[in-house]
Amino acid sequence: MLYDLAKAVHILAVIVWIAGMCVAAMTLRHPSPKMLPAIQAFDRRVTTPAMLLAWIFGLYIAINGGWFGENWLSVKILLVLILSGLHGMITGRLRKKTWEGGTQADGATRMVLPLGFGLVVAIVVLVTTKAF
Ligand code: HEM
Repeated sequence: MLYDLAKAVHILAVIVWIAGMCVAAMTLRHPSPKMLPAIQAFDRRVTTPAMLLAWIFGLYIAINGGWFGENWLSVKILLVLILSGLHGMITGRLRKKTWEGGTQADGATRMVLPLGFGLVVAIVVLVTTKAF
C-alpha cells in the first residue's frame, strides 16, 4: 500500500516535472519579457521541487521494491540523469534570459524538446516492460 502510494507520488511528480520542462523549453524558443519572470519563478518553485520529489520517491520505490541491480533500472537511472542535466541546462539559460531580457530565441535549446521527449519515451518503455 505504502509502495503503491509512493509510486503514485512518483508518477505525479514526474508529470509536473516534465510539463514544467516543456513550458520552460518553449519559453526559451519564443521568449517574451512579460512571461520570462513568471516561467522562471515557476521553474524554481514548482518544476525543480517536482524533479527532486520524483528522484526521492523513485529511489524509495527502487529500494523498497528490491529493484536495485536490475539492468532496466540501471539504464533508466542513466537516462534520468541525462534528463535532469537537460533540466539543469534549461534552468540556467532561463535565469540568464530573464536577467538579460530580449525576445531572441535561444538556439542552444532547439534540441531540448525532441531529446527530452525521446528520453521520456525510452524511460517509460523501460520501466513498464522491464525488458531486460
Ligand atoms: C529519478 C529517478 C527515478 C528512479 C530511481 C525511478 C525508479 C522507479 C521504480 C523503482 C519504479 C517502480 C517500478 C514498479 O513498481 O514496477 C518506477 C515507476 C515508474 N517510473 Fe520511475 N524512476 C525515476 C524517474 C522516472 C522518470 C523521469 C520517469 C518518466 C519520465 C519515470 C516514470 C515511471 C513510471 C511511468 C512508473 C510506473 C511504471 C509501472 O508501474 O509500470 N520514472 N520508477
